[in-house]
Amino acid sequence: MLLLFLLFEGLCCPGENTAAPQALQSYHLAAEEQLSFRMLQTSSFANHSWAHSEGSGWLGDLQTHGWDTVLGTIRFLKPWSHGNFSKQELKNLQSLFQLYFHSFIRIVQASAGQFQLECKFVALS
Ligand SMILES: *[C@@H]1O[C@H](CO)[C@@H](O)[C@H](O)[C@H]1NC(C)=O
Ligand SMILES: *[C@@H]1O[C@H](CO)[C@@H](O)[C@H](O)[C@H]1NC(C)=O
Repeated sequence: MLLLFLLFEGLCCPGENTAAPQALQSYHLAAEEQLSFRMLQTSSFANHSWAHSEGSGWLGDLQTHGWDTVLGTIRFLKPWSHGNFSKQELKNLQSLFQLYFHSFIRIVQASAGQFQLECKFVALS
């Protein structure tokens, strides 16, 4: 079983010109400390044909987002988790994540085949 944990991290800073949702910035200002937004990916590979990926979003130690692996959609765990993204922007983000998970699994499986790795290991990052 291959288990991959991937962590994507960014800081939410007031005045930073990003698409960071207003709610995140308000939360940041209230806390008066730098909060990081992290996206965590866990992928498991049982063999060459079976893989499963999970994703979640974290603001500090608060989980704000999840990933519905069946529907391939973002789960918003707080009323403000949508941020200021429009429906179209969220749809585009979901498509991007769907493509990412799909491609990631394909690439890992292809690489394991290329190097003739037995696809049963655990990796953490
Ligand atoms: C691959 O692993 C899955 C999940 O453990 C299992 O259900 C499936 O039978 C396995 N397939 C092969 C070809 O070993
Ligand atoms: C986000 O939306 C709120 C209310 O809809 C608005 O007041 C705020 O200015 C928006 N923030 C950004 C960064 O667009």
